[in-house]
Amino acid sequence: MTAASLAATFNATSREFDGLTPQVWGPAGQSLAFALELATGDAVLDVCSGTGASAIPAAAAVGPDGLVHAIDLADDLLEVGRVKATDRALRNIDFVLADATEWEPPSTVPDAGYDALACSYGIFFLPDPEGDFARLVSLVRPGGRVGVAVWRKGAIEAFAGTYFEVIGAHSQPSEHDGPLAQDGYDKHPIRRMETAELLSAWLTAAGTTDVEVVELSNHVPATESFVWDLVLGSAMRGALTPFDEATRTQIRAEFSALLTERGIDSIDLGTLVATGVRTP
Ligand SMILES: C[S@@+](CC[C@H](N)C(=O)[O-])C[C@H]1O[C@@H](n2cnc3c(N)ncnc32)[C@H](O)[C@@H]1O
Repeated sequence: MTAASLAATFNATSREFDGLTPQVWGPAGQSLAFALELATGDAVLDVCSGTGASAIPAAAAVGPDGLVHAIDLADDLLEVGRVKATDRALRNIDFVLADATEWEPPSTVPDAGYDALACSYGIFFLPDPEGDFARLVSLVRPGGRVGVAVWRKGAIEAFAGTYFEVIGAHSQPSEHDGPLAQDGYDKHPIRRMETAELLSAWLTAAGTTDVEVVELSNHVPATESFVWDLVLGSAMRGALTPFDEATRTQIRAEFSALLTERGIDSIDLGTLVATGVRTP
């Protein structure tokens, strides 16, 4: 997906995206911020920040003498993050509209680099996940910490697979090639980082050492309303773009019926949270 289509998809999610934070994005964001062992005064880069699931806890951790640059392509999500930060009176976090593949630290960041880099559920959207992330790691000072959260192998697979089956029945193949589309799923970058072993090797290759990976288990009941909120508040929404409102309503009903038929009454949101230390 191009940066423009990612921005369009995630901007479109802005009404539902942050409603998912307590059950979906928040647990990993909070865990990632803790796993980075941030200290008072640290400078943190949070890429693919969305509404700040990891960036806001990071801002709380580094305190008023620290700073967090939360960058994303979707300004509508950033705006939700700005409001949340203001509500919490956090003045040390900037939500910036920028492409992670092009980000350069401004002069407020120490010459040696950021103290920490975070990316929660974002690395698999980068056009060249390995190359782009290695460049971001190079913006961290040697000895600084790097952390990512990604879906664990098998997570959301049954859910997304069923969704894209329904989408596929309504569309031409080229119309449903979103990031989690079943077609090509095996070739998706998610596959290259979905186990502790793969993710550990991936972070090491990106320029870190002493990698630690923990698994967060998270199962959310698949209520009819949550199921559709998860579609509308995530990248899965992109696959609905070609359809009119009546067809979307039909897709929603068919998807819900198929989940019930298959006994999928709980959504596996298992996540890996990994950290490493930037090599000198
Ligand atoms: C699934 S969301 C995760 C957001 C947030 N980290 C969270 O956990 O709630 C993925 C985010 O990555 C952003 N994104 C994708 N590619 C990006 C890029 N090249 N630069 C900046 N943000 C990007 C999207 O706009 C979207 O907000």
